[in-house]
Amino acid sequence: MPTLTGSKLTDEVVSRYKDCQDPRLKQIMTSLVKHLHSFARDVNLTEGEWMKGIEFLTAVGHITTEMRQEFILLSDVLGLSMTVVELNHGTEAGETEATVQGPFYVPGAPELPKGAVVEGDPPGDPLDVTGTIHDGQGKPIVHALLDVWQAGEDGLYSNQDPDKPKYELRGKFRSDRDGSYHFRSVLPKGYQIPTDGPVGVMMRATGRPSWRPAHLHFMVSAEGFKPLTTHLFVKGTDHIREDAVFGVKDSLIVDFKPSTGNGYSLKHDFVLSPGR
Ligand code: BEZ
Ligand code: FE
Repeated sequence: MPTLTGSKLTDEVVSRYKDCQDPRLKQIMTSLVKHLHSFARDVNLTEGEWMKGIEFLTAVGHITTEMRQEFILLSDVLGLSMTVVELNHGTEAGETEATVQGPFYVPGAPELPKGAVVEGDPPGDPLDVTGTIHDGQGKPIVHALLDVWQAGEDGLYSNQDPDKPKYELRGKFRSDRDGSYHFRSVLPKGYQIPTDGPVGVMMRATGRPSWRPAHLHFMVSAEGFKPLTTHLFVKGTDHIREDAVFGVKDSLIVDFKPSTGNGYSLKHDFVLSPGR
């Protein structure tokens, strides 16, 4: 066999996938190989730099546990997560826009009655959240599930601190017969993504800000509709134009209005598109 260099090497690696029985897997692997090779050639990657990359990915793996997902964080800060969101969530007229899930979602939060406070009775400025869940024609979606989560006043999610109750600042709520939902929580604050791991090392080495603007997380689902994962960002909050994970969309920046008593209120409708 002749020595394989340049595009001949790339072609040979790609050809080794010729017997792959899964056409989609074959397409993904061959494209990945081509892009990885051209990336290395583009930057003229040295052996030392390649090894640093291997060590970085090894560190990302080592710090990842059930409680901490450094690979999702890496994908988020590289803008890959938002690229995948863009590819999978169209812009059907009126549909609520999707954004990143992030690494802090915990499945299994308890379902709470309409109007209840999210789990854990956390400190903060009281917040009342109401609205409806409906389809693109304005028809209410009955019994839709709204799974909500957010960081505490200290900027940490419950799964970042073993001393916090597992489901603090989390809860599931159902829409009523008229599509309306209601829950109570506290005003979210901006926070920094975790910077104590390899992703933090990379952010500092490259001079990138690590802030996320204040937001609430939502996962909205209903029979016969495409599940939606999104945020609502606090209008006027800091760092809205420098989100570390590129998740901000104009339609998701909303008014958290000061109430006449103490606290804040937010009214927001979610629009789902048909599908699965
Ligand atoms: C979050 O909003 O929870 C989040 C998203 C991406 C990276 C880090 C945190
Ligand atoms: Fe968040």
